[in-house]
Amino acid sequence: MNILHIDASASDAAASHTRRLSAELVEKLKAANPDASVVYRDVTVDPLPHVDMTIRQAWAPEGDKDASLTATAQRSKALVDELKAADVIVIGSPMYNFTIPSTLKAWIDHIAIAGQTFQYTASGPEGLLKGKAYLALSSGGVYSQGPFAAVEHLATYLTDILGFLGIRDVEVVRAEGVAYGPEQDEAAMASAAERIKTLVAG
Ligand SMILES: Cc1cc2nc3c(=O)[nH]c(=O)nc-3n(C[C@H](O)[C@H](O)[C@H](O)COP(=O)(O)O)c2cc1C
Repeated sequence: MNILHIDASASDAAASHTRRLSAELVEKLKAANPDASVVYRDVTVDPLPHVDMTIRQAWAPEGDKDASLTATAQRSKALVDELKAADVIVIGSPMYNFTIPSTLKAWIDHIAIAGQTFQYTASGPEGLLKGKAYLALSSGGVYSQGPFAAVEHLATYLTDILGFLGIRDVEVVRAEGVAYGPEQDEAAMASAAERIKTLVAG
């Protein structure tokens, strides 16, 4: 089993809820699959640039490319290859302004490539990836139910984009309402840890 572990929190390991939960998921997956290999990508510590004109130029199949454009194209290819090699993806992502951090969006913009990870067919788009994903999510407020459910664009967005790319088996672990006070924070993390235990038998 090849695991691609991605973290996107701007908090360090000691403070971050999602880093803790994604690490716990990976530990449990490794315990259940001792031969598993893990590739780790931290899109906050090692951020990818926004897709701009230069990057679009590097991606274009035609045209002369200087060394810098070639290196840019190679980096994008390496990101896609890394993702394609994964059987399981574990993504740790906080909610920033109702959705994923822009650092994680930049990664998605680099890997959602027509002809590579999805393709258009006569009957519509088709995802080219396979496998399973675990999402380790956290938010200050509560969005899985209640008055703010309509603005939950974190789990819904990640599930939608992964599904678009072909990964429809997506499990969500969330610690939400962590800003409601230390008790709610602790309870949210305990309930997320319990869910991890039920999802991945060690
Ligand atoms: C830039 C920023 C934007 C945030 N936006 C939201 C938000 O829209 N809704 C929310 O409930 N919490 C929001 N939060 C709080 C985080 O989602 C929450 O603290 C989460 O636990 C962070 O995950 P982490 O501990 O792994 O970094 C935001 C935090 C930051 C730093």
